Amino acid sequence: MAGGSGSRLWPLSRALYPKQFLRLNGSGSMLQNTITRLQGLECADPMLICNEEHRFIAAEQLRELGELNHNIILEPAGRNTAPAIALAAFAAIGQGNDPVMLVLAADHIIQHAEVFRESVRKALRFAEQDKLVTFGIVPTGPETGYGYIERGVDQGAGGFDVARFVEKPDEDTALEYIDSGEFYWNSGMFMFKASRYLKELKSHRPDIYKACEEAMMDLNSDLDFVRVNKEAFLNCPEDSVDYAVMEKTKDAIVVPMDAGWNDVGSWSSLWEVSDKDDSGNVHHGDVMSHNSYNNYVFAETGMVATVGIDDVVVVQTKDAVLVVKKDQVQDVKKIVEALKRDN
Ligand code: GDD
Ligand code: MG
Repeated sequence: MAGGSGSRLWPLSRALYPKQFLRLNGSGSMLQNTITRLQGLECADPMLICNEEHRFIAAEQLRELGELNHNIILEPAGRNTAPAIALAAFAAIGQGNDPVMLVLAADHIIQHAEVFRESVRKALRFAEQDKLVTFGIVPTGPETGYGYIERGVDQGAGGFDVARFVEKPDEDTALEYIDSGEFYWNSGMFMFKASRYLKELKSHRPDIYKACEEAMMDLNSDLDFVRVNKEAFLNCPEDSVDYAVMEKTKDAIVVPMDAGWNDVGSWSSLWEVSDKDDSGNVHHGDVMSHNSYNNYVFAETGMVATVGIDDVVVVQTKDAVLVVKKDQVQDVKKIVEALKRDN
């Protein structure tokens, strides 16, 4: 799934070049790293679902990896993840089989790829038994941007029943969950048979199911891209897989995963996962600092210098500069929203 907008990483992440295509950490882009991380697992060629606008970036990045079979499904507009996964499931079944799908977000950092693969192997056994598997992360704080999964009965083999799945609770509720010690964060990665997902979607959100089914009936494909029926898909209601299916299904399993996962939703989470110098600073590009600590400074086209400031993020690009306190980085999206309104 590579159709998000990544607005909290503005001004580096832009409408035309959102974060999943950026090289934020190390060599490959986040999308490329998502695919590379699968090496060592037996999977079919990856299927990518993204916005029509980003088709050339996506295809180029797959080509760089040597992925010759481009299964790229293009959405005329984002309808969030429940429809995106439905398109992939219909496409997989249309190819004449009913595979287990490993559903990944293209914008996660995972430090220990082998641990990730081990969890995927565990999950496969549950998915083959027609369960809907999610991967659970041990929470480190009452984040409100995540889904929370209450652990139920231990099923052995690395999986637990999901007693409850609550998408994006408020802060007080999140605190309660953390204190109970019974909850994981939802990593936003899933595994299930294509048919099982569609069956759940059909029973909980028949409207989304129907719109996606129609959108997949009249495809327009060329060598690299599959375009769904625009009118049908634009009529599809928006919803995430978390609300549409995972909160509602009675048949979910959580496989805990301790792989150094981070969803890099914001500048501060990027600071957290990056290598820092002795002063706790992360610098990219031409940056100098004096008496400055725990900052994230990114200079794209010019030089940036900091003196006597702590816990800030400075991001300089050729046409925009962001300066924000590290504890307020969630609100960067307010700027992006305001920019959208003004344009
Ligand atoms: N193709 C496509 N189309 N992809 C999409 C769309 C869409 O309309 N919307 C989002 N995506 C992609 C994003 O690019 C990202 O890779 C992934 O789907 C998840 O979307 P987000 O928008 O980043 O979701 P979230 O962060 O608010 O919440 C999800 O992830 C959290 C962990 O990071 C949920 O699954 C939460 O429960 C979870 O905790
Ligand atoms: Mg996210």
